Amino acid sequence: MGKRISRRSFIKGAAAAGVVLAAGSYFTWNGKNIPEAVKQGDAIYDVLIIGSGGAGMRAALAAAANKDLKVAVMTKLIPTRSASTMAQGGMNGVTGVTDPADTVESHAFDTIKGGDYLSDQDAVEFFAERAGKNIYEMDFMGYPYNRQSDGSFHQRKMGGSSHARAAYFEDRAGHAMVHTLFEQCLKNDIDFISECQMLEICREEGKLQGVIAMDMRSGNIMGIPAKTVLIATGGYGRAYWIRTSNPYSSTGDGIVAGMKLGIPFKDPEMVQFHPTGLAANGVLLSESSRAEGALLVNKNGERFMAKYAPAKMELATRDIVAQAIATEIEQGRGIGEGIHAGVYMDFTKIPPSRIQERLGQVYDLSRRFAGVDITKEPVLISPTCHYSMGGLEMTDFHTGATRIPAVFTAGECSCVSIHGANRLGANSLSEVLVFGHVAGDGAAAYAKEHAYEGSQDVLSGACSKWMDHFDSVTSRTRIEGRTVPEIRDAMVDTMWFKVGVFREEGQLQQASQELRALEQDYAHCYVGDSSHVYNTAFEQYVEVGNLLQISHAIVQGAIARKESRGGHSRRDYPKRDDVHFLKHTLIFQENGKYRTEYKNVVLTKYPPKERKY
Ligand code: FUM
Repeated sequence: MGKRISRRSFIKGAAAAGVVLAAGSYFTWNGKNIPEAVKQGDAIYDVLIIGSGGAGMRAALAAAANKDLKVAVMTKLIPTRSASTMAQGGMNGVTGVTDPADTVESHAFDTIKGGDYLSDQDAVEFFAERAGKNIYEMDFMGYPYNRQSDGSFHQRKMGGSSHARAAYFEDRAGHAMVHTLFEQCLKNDIDFISECQMLEICREEGKLQGVIAMDMRSGNIMGIPAKTVLIATGGYGRAYWIRTSNPYSSTGDGIVAGMKLGIPFKDPEMVQFHPTGLAANGVLLSESSRAEGALLVNKNGERFMAKYAPAKMELATRDIVAQAIATEIEQGRGIGEGIHAGVYMDFTKIPPSRIQERLGQVYDLSRRFAGVDITKEPVLISPTCHYSMGGLEMTDFHTGATRIPAVFTAGECSCVSIHGANRLGANSLSEVLVFGHVAGDGAAAYAKEHAYEGSQDVLSGACSKWMDHFDSVTSRTRIEGRTVPEIRDAMVDTMWFKVGVFREEGQLQQASQELRALEQDYAHCYVGDSSHVYNTAFEQYVEVGNLLQISHAIVQGAIARKESRGGHSRRDYPKRDDVHFLKHTLIFQENGKYRTEYKNVVLTKYPPKERKY
């Protein structure tokens, strides 16, 4: 037997080899050595975008349409490895192509009803108006849509939609989107600063300075000067690591950095549990499975959705389907035990040729991660943490602005808010295109009107503080403190079992206490690696710290919202309460303390009603 190689030692080994091969230079895009230029203070960016998912790259394209502006996208990964790449089902938008009866108003209404009336209706109308145009725009950029016999793209009907409006490429809609956008970014000569982890957005005396980041390849901590920063860092599903469809990188970094600047975290308690993760491990099986005809069946062979959503059945909204599955399991009609219990998703009535054409990834994932051939037998699924409806408050959906000047946001890390208490399937890829574009334009316009106000000295000072912090935390010895992975594992356990699909006061209060204890442990935790090249132990230390703050806000918002609405389902308050809670939660972080405020939901022409599917 050969020696076992851990992921960590592999990365570090590969990096060491890379350093020798590259003789001191960095792995670069477009032949540019971005970190080197940045270190030498050669680059002041007009628009510095953090996050290379759909929102980040769409924003970059919009900003770079202004040829006089210097635009960069920074990512802790490489550009095509973002969470957007994992999105499966499609992107919603009214085009009149597949279903001529569809209307912008119907898209807006489905979104508002799906969000259980917590959506800001003016923002939803703006979104629905633009979503269809984005589908065409992606077509012109070269997106490889699944097409109809006349060559036009095909659209499918996702959960909670009353028309077929999700355009797609197989069940790899996000993968195709990210690669299409990346090609356009390369064509437009946009700088990519890859494998650099943001540590802080630096703002002093009311002046934006730029971003402090660690170059993972060298361990260098650098200050990148920027006139505007656009936060597009995605969600925080890894707070539920035990069962999530999100990648390792979804750790809420941008939200935490934004909160430190004074931007509130809006509606943090609104976490989406997608109904169909593999029961074995939470890996997503796309809602497009049910759009294409897969059925949900309990251990008695019943299509149980007839009890919960008789009209829409398997294509009811995600909150309703996830809560139905969790109820079936709790009441003994699931299959299996404990966290791996589930119900069946049955594809056997779908012709195998259609599975091959439209659900290739679902087929592969079921085979690889559950050992099931879905063309022959049903696969066991149960809810998995998938999406954050909440995020950094966007104060102007026409520009992506936040309440902090020069700081913009877009994508999952932002809260516009269009998804309200529950997002519809295939609305997130559309959201990143619509509001990525808007925010890129907004940041560019700001950059054109303002001079850089920061200074290298301030950035250098902030870098020094982070270097000291790095030295201090990585030189701790292990006496009795918990390790970072131990804290992480306890945190995700708390979040899944006490702040999951169903919630109630006692468990939420217990979760709050457990998180406070973990925060104390974190203050002197053991990191264990003081080296500089690919120090993933330090990276995880930062990420787990971010997730603890995110979890704290989720729990605080969930305790205060004494009603059930969309993805926030309280056993002790089973009804929606529009009298007291038709409002957004805003959590502010000030000197390490969390404060809650509320903000009214914007209503236009869709008065709140009871939801029926
Ligand atoms: O199920 C899915 O394909 C997920 C799509 C989405 O989150 O929009």
